[in-house]
Amino acid sequence: MGLRRFDNKVVLITGAATGIGRATALRLAAEGATLILADRNLAGAQAACAEATERFGVRADAIAYDAADTASARDMVDTAIALHGCLDSLINNAGIYRRDHFARQTGDEWALVFRLNLESVFHVVQQALPTLIASRGNVVSTASTAGVDGIAYAAAYAASKAGIIAMTKSLATEYAPKGVRFNAICPGRVRTEIGTGLLPIDDQDPAISVRPSKLLGKIETGEPEDIAGAFAYLASDDASYVSGSVLVVDGAQTVG
Ligand SMILES: NC(=O)c1ccc[n+]([C@@H]2O[C@H](COP(=O)([O-])OP(=O)(O)OC[C@H]3O[C@@H](n4cnc5c(N)ncnc54)[C@H](O)[C@@H]3O)[C@@H](O)[C@H]2O)c1
Repeated sequence: MGLRRFDNKVVLITGAATGIGRATALRLAAEGATLILADRNLAGAQAACAEATERFGVRADAIAYDAADTASARDMVDTAIALHGCLDSLINNAGIYRRDHFARQTGDEWALVFRLNLESVFHVVQQALPTLIASRGNVVSTASTAGVDGIAYAAAYAASKAGIIAMTKSLATEYAPKGVRFNAICPGRVRTEIGTGLLPIDDQDPAISVRPSKLLGKIETGEPEDIAGAFAYLASDDASYVSGSVLVVDGAQTVG
């Protein structure tokens, strides 16, 4: 029998309809988690719930959630708590990626990326804090290697993910006395819809290349499942002494 670190644990995952969020949901389901999967793509979240229940016998509920909408963040958390009375882990994973020459980016695009990738996390975490304090729970947020190293043609995205990292470390300090852990994961390039958006754009400077994963050799991207295990670890009691950490999961893409 495999690990059962999430038996009797309630986990809310945003951006769980596809990609890394969905793979993480299924990984946690395999370990017994009760899931609430939130996404603006409700049909996708429902399909992920159905798969989790069918394959692993866990309870999984889908919630419509729009990260661009503050009220939606509050409703999502309130609905999750109403369903189960508590929340043990919150995984902030919903995000968007915009890629263009910096000179062509508009203030509206910059603001949108920040609203969806960073400000939304502020609203969700703030709403979830009372129940997380009560459960001595934890938060894992999806940042990016771009938030550590930057990435050409996506300054807004990189800055929003750097914000996730700074928020994570700040809250890890502020809420340590209350027993709530905060950690972030920095995936490298992963084969998802967002990962596809990392491919070159028109007029891209040829001197700026996409760095392949050194672990995978010629294959240029990791798979969502390669990231899911890191979420499972940080959200579990195996990481009970880990808070304020930023875990890079990129197949050695950004080192060396
Ligand atoms: N794929 C990569 O290479 C990569 C690398 C580093 C970080 N990330 C991060 O991983 C996270 C997941 O992305 P992914 O790669 O799995 O891509 P993805 O496009 O498959 O997943 C993104 C999910 O977020 C949801 N979403 C988008 N906008 C939303 C909104 N306004 N409200 C609610 N949900 C919304 C989408 O419906 C989707 O389910 C993102 O935060 C992304 O920035 C991805």
